[in-house]
Amino acid sequence: MKNLSRSSRVLLCVTGGIAAYKAPHLVRGFIRSGWEVKVAMTEASEAFVSPMVLATLSHNRVWRDRDYLSDDSGWHIPHISLAEWADVIVVAPCTADTVARLAGGYASKVMDGAVLASKAPVIVFPAMNVNMLDHSATRRNLDILESMGYVVVEPDSGDLACGYEGRGRLPDVDVIVEEVERALRPKDLEGLSVVVTAGPTREFLDPVRYISNPSSGKMGYSIAKEAWYRGAEVRIISGPVALESPHGIQVIPVTSAEDMLDAATRAMDDCDVMVKAAAVGDYRFASRSEHKIKREGKSEVSFSMIANPDIAATLGEMKKQGQILVGFAAETDDLKENARRKLRAKGLDLIVANDLTEPGSGFGTDTNRVTIFDVQGNSKEVQGDKTEVASIIWDEVLLRREGR
Ligand SMILES: Cc1cc2nc3c(=O)[nH]c(=O)nc-3n(C[C@H](O)[C@H](O)[C@H](O)COP(=O)(O)O)c2cc1C
Repeated sequence: MKNLSRSSRVLLCVTGGIAAYKAPHLVRGFIRSGWEVKVAMTEASEAFVSPMVLATLSHNRVWRDRDYLSDDSGWHIPHISLAEWADVIVVAPCTADTVARLAGGYASKVMDGAVLASKAPVIVFPAMNVNMLDHSATRRNLDILESMGYVVVEPDSGDLACGYEGRGRLPDVDVIVEEVERALRPKDLEGLSVVVTAGPTREFLDPVRYISNPSSGKMGYSIAKEAWYRGAEVRIISGPVALESPHGIQVIPVTSAEDMLDAATRAMDDCDVMVKAAAVGDYRFASRSEHKIKREGKSEVSFSMIANPDIAATLGEMKKQGQILVGFAAETDDLKENARRKLRAKGLDLIVANDLTEPGSGFGTDTNRVTIFDVQGNSKEVQGDKTEVASIIWDEVLLRREGR
């Protein structure tokens, strides 16, 4: 199994903005993600958050500016040890002052020295008063950081601690964790435009009733997130799901199979890879009542249904030279035969087949057990949580692109 970002080493640099009070939550979020965490603090940040709290939560000593030039730690060269240790450096919150120091290449604080001495990716989360953020000096400095290859994540908008309203808030812990996850991945999908369909469709009978299926959207969302981590520009065409919209990804909401077809055919115009992970209904009601259908004492009713358009086949016909189309097959019997037939009939490059009768596989689960088939007749069995399965699907897509 591919080694994802588990057990990565994250150096969190906390600076003296009001949002430093959120640093303990950040440390806990990183630890929950399975990462090892060390913290470096500027002197100013100690006015906002206690080093002891951060040491306790990170299970590591905290590096303070007073440790930098101390004869207690000189033998250890704090900034060099931290720089060598870190797989990724996160500056959160990052003050205007620290943005300026980093842009200037200073090494006057322990965290500045670590950033300068490290080859690890650096992600900066500026958080400050909106006027400070919009000041031409700060904008120029942030541009410099980006030109040096640092990832700058713009702050959120809302009520600011200084009493202003506007941009300047530190993003939520989940967003910061997602950005770190991304920084830790290879960028082997960079430059690709990817579209993933996900979730169920709903076919309405009347304004209050519909027919659907139990798809949670988790597999499709995992595939989309994995592509974003690996550098792709990603859109999800999503049926109704109970999942949060993933950070960094555009979600196009749809309801019925016909809506899904419409959005997917549009997206086919300008994407490099389309992954069809949605569970699209095969049939819809022949007619949809505008009013709620009343019981009216009937003991039995029947409604006629008609076939929905075959989205996979339509996209297969639209496929242009160089585009890759990946389909899913959820089956309860004859998995191999059905998957291979669908692969050929619908012009797919790969098909990911689920046996819905297997435990830990298919709808609503966090794990999946699939077989990936290609047009050359190769197949690969994959089992794991949906993130791991997603990662292997992208490896297979990349092999097909490279093999073109
Ligand atoms: C109450 C208070 C809140 C502050 N909040 C912020 C802030 O959110 N963002 C910021 O850039 N500076 C803020 N500052 C200013 C920084 O603390 C100051 O520029 C300091 O020198 C930053 O040092 P550092 O970047 O080394 O941590 C604040 C100052 C005070 C007194």
